[in-house]
Amino acid sequence: MIDVENLCKDYVLKSKEPGLKGAMKGLVKPNHKIIHAVKDLSFHIDTGEIVGFIGPNGAGKSTTIKMMSGILTPTQGQVLIDGRNISKHRKEVVKDIGVVFGQRSQLNWDLRLGESFELLKHIYQINQKEYDKTLDELDQILGIKELLDKPVRQMSLGQRVKGDLVASMIHSPKVLFLDEPTIGLDVSAKYALRKFIKEINKVRHTTVILTTHDLGDIQELCERLIVINSGVLMEDGNLSEIVDRIAPYKTLVVEYYDEVAPEHTRCKLIAQDGNVAKYRFMKNDVTAAEIIADLSKEKKIKDVSIEETGIDDIIKIVYGA
Ligand SMILES: Nc1ncnc2c1ncn2[C@@H]1O[C@H](COP(=O)(O)OP(=O)(O)OP(=O)(O)O)[C@@H](O)[C@H]1O
Ligand SMILES: [Mg+2]
Repeated sequence: MIDVENLCKDYVLKSKEPGLKGAMKGLVKPNHKIIHAVKDLSFHIDTGEIVGFIGPNGAGKSTTIKMMSGILTPTQGQVLIDGRNISKHRKEVVKDIGVVFGQRSQLNWDLRLGESFELLKHIYQINQKEYDKTLDELDQILGIKELLDKPVRQMSLGQRVKGDLVASMIHSPKVLFLDEPTIGLDVSAKYALRKFIKEINKVRHTTVILTTHDLGDIQELCERLIVINSGVLMEDGNLSEIVDRIAPYKTLVVEYYDEVAPEHTRCKLIAQDGNVAKYRFMKNDVTAAEIIADLSKEKKIKDVSIEETGIDDIIKIVYGA
């Protein structure tokens, strides 16, 4: 459904030295600085996937989403949606895509929400029957109808995001780009949004590309992750495979009756605090049961627990790299 091929984006920044002298100098000899925001990015996304597109601040996620949705033209490379180049065939391709930026609304602030939807209905030339059906479906998931008479500028953030989501889906696109849609939402609004994404993916087989800094969104929605950092692809794969590869270990926490913690040859004692010791062991090398059995021969054990490496740890490792 989506092919991103050797995508690059450079931003050119005009910088000037301070003061009048700097301004004069800038006129004679402009100083340009180039920011390589996205560098040679390639990946393929199949129909019906929900992909978490993540990375630290400034990694180039929004820039990539803007290129994938035809808002920005790539410096190099191309994006194909269903085999068509979005930059060259924007008019046709735009019917197949929806895009939501959590940080900035695409709705018209001077209109009521319902009027904004009607406007989109005319732009996309959707017939009344289809429009009513889509609105009914989206209303069932997001409860949008009660907001139709509300002017967009009077809406709360959560209401506005709901409005933006419906607006992005009103023409039933095959692909939905969501750039930080859960930013600033309360728990129940976040829950509704996740439900919405799952539902449109399940019922309409909409392909979803989701950018988020909320690990709950990823855990809840994304089987696959694409991680970028400094505009470069760092990881692309199944979430659980990435976790297994980056952190092929677990941590065993053992509470003893006294403060002396025995060592073990097949794992590493990584921390000790009073009676509690932490051992890190490789998942494919040895089992927690074997280690516990060995340790209990040395010292009497009061309690044990196992700490899995969480997605937050993985992200710290990948982002750090
Ligand atoms: N219009 C622009 N002009 C110049 N530089 C820009 C522009 N937009 C983004 N950049 C720069 O490009 C880089 C990537 O920015 P981008 O917004 O794509 O990051 P991001 O991954 O979406 O970050 P965040 O998680 O903070 O939203 C940053 O260094 C940013 O300062
Ligand atoms: Mg961004």
